[in-house]
Amino acid sequence: MPSITALDARIVFNSRGSKTIEVDVVTDKRFSGRACAPSGASVGKLEAQSFPDNKPEKALIAFKANRRKFIGLDASDTKAVFEALRSVDRTDNYSKIGGSVAYALSIAAVDSAAKARGVPLFRLLNPKKPYRFPFPLGNVLGGGAHAGPGTPDIQEILACPVGANDIKEALEMNFHFHSEMRKVIESLDSRFTYGRGDEGAWAPNVNNDQALSIAEKTIERCGYRLGKDMALGIDFASSSFWDEKNNVYDYKRQGIKRNTADQIEFANSLIKEYKLVYVEDPVHETDFESMAILTKQNPKTLVTGDDMLVTNAAMVKKAVGFGACSGAILKVNQAGSLYDALQFAKECTKNGIGIITSHRSGESVDSHIAHIAVATGSKMIKTGVLGGERVAKLNELLRLSEYDLIEGMAELTPTT
Ligand code: PGA
Ligand code: ZN
Repeated sequence: MPSITALDARIVFNSRGSKTIEVDVVTDKRFSGRACAPSGASVGKLEAQSFPDNKPEKALIAFKANRRKFIGLDASDTKAVFEALRSVDRTDNYSKIGGSVAYALSIAAVDSAAKARGVPLFRLLNPKKPYRFPFPLGNVLGGGAHAGPGTPDIQEILACPVGANDIKEALEMNFHFHSEMRKVIESLDSRFTYGRGDEGAWAPNVNNDQALSIAEKTIERCGYRLGKDMALGIDFASSSFWDEKNNVYDYKRQGIKRNTADQIEFANSLIKEYKLVYVEDPVHETDFESMAILTKQNPKTLVTGDDMLVTNAAMVKKAVGFGACSGAILKVNQAGSLYDALQFAKECTKNGIGIITSHRSGESVDSHIAHIAVATGSKMIKTGVLGGERVAKLNELLRLSEYDLIEGMAELTPTT
């Protein structure tokens, strides 16, 4: 067994220039694993808390005070690492030790264990075939919490190269789409600055409707067929513009307010008009009833919970009770440790809910999520299109294609 012989942590910076925690784990005195915790801008209410009292320094102190508890553990045993974390922090959101420590320690442990065993991480996490490549879901145009005033209220318009035959072609299609989109935006706005949001998506001065029409025009410009070669998706991240007090979705930048019925109708109309294969958080994070309506009315679309499910197995059970969600975002740092996230993945698979493994808007150049996506049988991987920290994950998928073990692309149709 790859036994943890040393571990250390430090504060480093993420792609937004904010402080975060990075952990090194050494097994058998020579196999070194490393992971750096990402962070979100549109954060679900029930997510793990990244740092005690929101202070990275306090997470580092908590790590140093407790690191001895991890010495001697089997680094490949995600449950053992989880239990050691729980022995230190019994809160339900890792607020004592920090979700960032739970994330980085649990992933650095398996990173080092994979090296000790001489296997790729995805095989360590799931030794059973078949493996398939997730479709890369690329954030190509956005606003919301990821970009400034003037951009759409909708957080992300996503490209999904459904017609791609292999992962290389899929990546090439997304890069091509992103670069052609810039030309479409320029043709409509000669003063476009090439500004991009936190995840590398174009952040033009357009409203929600114009943003979708730009995406459609880009499909035409690329010579793709909508829904056949290239499909579109949307992450509304609607909790970020849900006005709880007045019970309306407040599209402030466009000057439109929608009540719940209007919001359902709006989401339905976009799904129909743009043949969306994917919609994320179309309603706010506690509205399971409306999510169930959208899930039932759109059996061909992955109606996906992010802030709603917060990578928490108990929330999947709740969603299943309502008949809500045919897709589920998996972000390890929402859950805390890798074990928590893998339990979530199991619950999704058991209930026929498609998994979409995802980056965060604040990222590092780590590429573990490429392995986690393959190991969990994810249908898609959300990693953005451009920017070193996004491309790092995409390039890791290309490296994985050198293993003959991975048989083609995932099956996209929802199974629920
Ligand atoms: P976040 O955004 O990482 O800023 O939370 C990503 C998302 O909402 O999917
Ligand atoms: Zn989201």
